[in-house]
Amino acid sequence: MNGAAGGVSLLDLEPATSDFLKEAIAGLSSSPPTLPSKFFYDERGSDLFQEICELPEYYVTRTETAILRQHGAEIADSIGENAELVGFGTGAGVKTRRLLDHLQNLIAYVPVDISKQRLTESAEALSREMPALEILPVCADYLQPLELPTPSRKPAHIAVYFPGSTIGNMHPEVARHFLQRVARLCGHSGGLIIGVDLQKSSDVLEAAYNDSADVTAAFNLNMLVRANRELDADFDLSAWRHRAIYNQEAARIEMHLISERDQTVHLADREFPFAAGEKIITEFSYKHTVDGFAALAASAGFQLARVWTDPEKLFAVFHFTTL
Ligand code: TRP
Repeated sequence: MNGAAGGVSLLDLEPATSDFLKEAIAGLSSSPPTLPSKFFYDERGSDLFQEICELPEYYVTRTETAILRQHGAEIADSIGENAELVGFGTGAGVKTRRLLDHLQNLIAYVPVDISKQRLTESAEALSREMPALEILPVCADYLQPLELPTPSRKPAHIAVYFPGSTIGNMHPEVARHFLQRVARLCGHSGGLIIGVDLQKSSDVLEAAYNDSADVTAAFNLNMLVRANRELDADFDLSAWRHRAIYNQEAARIEMHLISERDQTVHLADREFPFAAGEKIITEFSYKHTVDGFAALAASAGFQLARVWTDPEKLFAVFHFTTL
């Protein structure tokens, strides 16, 4: 389905509500129970995530943006000219602008995002600012195999931009398979620019995911609000609490919704009993080392071209290439 969006035309492959229902039932039935994180990003969820990105404790977005601001020209140079840039989950597009501004003779920009609102708004804004650029937005779950639109001019190579350390939300084995698919999508002499959050003290990490203004709590709990609205579930919002903990052995932040009392949740003719203190896992956020991540990408078929970090080594932006 194509929809006009003020000069840019949207390819709409948004996952259906029926997928949410199926995945929610499967998730809540598993042990430990989970809910699928891609469903965080309804309109309210996207707005809350935007707020998270601006929180004082959430160093992730700020640090990645600073790296892009400082090294944007170098990164664009490393990518090379006549590229087609594919953006995965590039959201409001602030960081992407740092690349777009510097890329020489960019053939087209293909932003892929699960949040239709965020995608449409950012594509429209970009098209106003860069009217000569061919923009081909796709609303889709980029974790699934997908067929991308073809630009009207042929690029010399494809570069994928994957910011926000969203790769960290995948188990390393899943990340490897995902990176293999990205390498195939890039084809020969392709590139991957990827932002990766690095391992650091659990105090800094836990503060980033348990902010004092409770925006992250609202974001996590919004999953339940959405399930109530879209799946006719009956989560009692006052009986669930957000908690993020850093699991040192697994090197990951775990996003939990904790049941405050014994209770039963109903969803589509099913009953899900929860004891007080029992949790639903909504997301993992794996933290990597520079060497560890380079090795992971290498095992998926990428060569490391360059890596940029901030002075405190909180975050890394990698450029990998395919042969
Ligand atoms: N990719 C982001 C991260 O792992 C996503 C994120 C940030 C997130 N804060 C969150 C996901 C809170 C769920 C809940 O840093």
